[in-house]
Amino acid sequence: MFTRHLSPLDRALAEVERALSTALGATQQANRPSPATGIDDTNLAETDRRHAAGLMRVNHTGEVCAQALYSGQAAVARNEHTREQLLAAAAEETDHLGWCGERLAELDSRPSLLNPLWYAGSFALGAVAALVSDKVSLGFVVETERQVEAHLGEHLEKLPAGDAASRAVVAQMKEDEARHGRHAREAGGIDLPPPIPTLMRHASNLMKAVAYRF
Ligand SMILES: [Fe+2]
Ligand SMILES: [Fe+2]
Repeated sequence: MFTRHLSPLDRALAEVERALSTALGATQQANRPSPATGIDDTNLAETDRRHAAGLMRVNHTGEVCAQALYSGQAAVARNEHTREQLLAAAAEETDHLGWCGERLAELDSRPSLLNPLWYAGSFALGAVAALVSDKVSLGFVVETERQVEAHLGEHLEKLPAGDAASRAVVAQMKEDEARHGRHAREAGGIDLPPPIPTLMRHASNLMKAVAYRF
């Protein structure tokens, strides 16, 4: 079978296209149907709807960051197998991005206005991690997914009791993130040294506080 090898320019252009469509809020096509499909949410009170929208906007921005991190890592991965693995994981995160975008629309809300900024920062972070080594890059995935899984567990507590649709989305994402972390660990990801995990937590806390409102 004929396989087309992408030139550096082809890759750069594909990267720019992916960045623009992700960060500027183009609707992402999920491969799997949303776990919220068919769940009735018509009885949500207005304050609950607004709170759920804030939380799902945070999750949507988290998924924009995931796309950017994986893309940044893949762009400079040394090993072709690692690169392919990172792009495959990014494809799975596209489901999450699509589901969060759909849920935000159902909640009559919109993605964060600052997504282009978060995308750029996360892409750079992913590229820097991958420049160190593939093991560090995969370790970065392990730590990110560990923190995201814990964060999604908190959201299952914080989401309004009546919003079963958002809960279904978050619960499935949590399960998927745990698997992503496991795969990165099995592929050779190492534990990141302090203070990196703490710095990552601070950065994501800032993102969460901002994206909840804007
Ligand atoms: Fe995700
Ligand atoms: Fe993930």
